[in-house]
Amino acid sequence: GAPVEVDIASLMPGEMKTVEWRGKPVWILKRSPEMLAGIKQVDGEVADPNSERKPDELTPEYARNEYRSIKPEILVAVGICTHLGCSPVTRFQTGAQPSLPDDWHGGFLCPCHGSTFDLAGRVFKNKPAPDNLEVPRHMFVGDSKLVIG
Ligand code: FES
Repeated sequence: GAPVEVDIASLMPGEMKTVEWRGKPVWILKRSPEMLAGIKQVDGEVADPNSERKPDELTPEYARNEYRSIKPEILVAVGICTHLGCSPVTRFQTGAQPSLPDDWHGGFLCPCHGSTFDLAGRVFKNKPAPDNLEVPRHMFVGDSKLVIG
């Protein structure tokens, strides 16, 4: 499939957009400083904090870090659960979800069997999903354009 170009200039901190690439949903989440701080706090609770499992398949070399990204604030991840392929839903502070618990740092929840992922797409321990969400190959062109694929 052809690479997909996305303009991310208008993406605000805490905002996510979804684009389609090779028939898959790809999330682009601009993480706020609070969201990044929350990722640091769950390093001990996720199964593969440094994305060492299936690196070639799931995490390009430039994203094998705590935030799983090139620029700390921009997460690019395939929105398909690594268990049986359902679509996880967002679980972070947005207008639609005003009452999340204070000790929840935000992430994604798979409605099929309850796997949870942090805001870097890292799977929490002891969940049915075996792996972190896939980070697709991507690069930035200038400040505001992202190329996926
Ligand atoms: Fe996501 Fe099973 S498909 S937990």
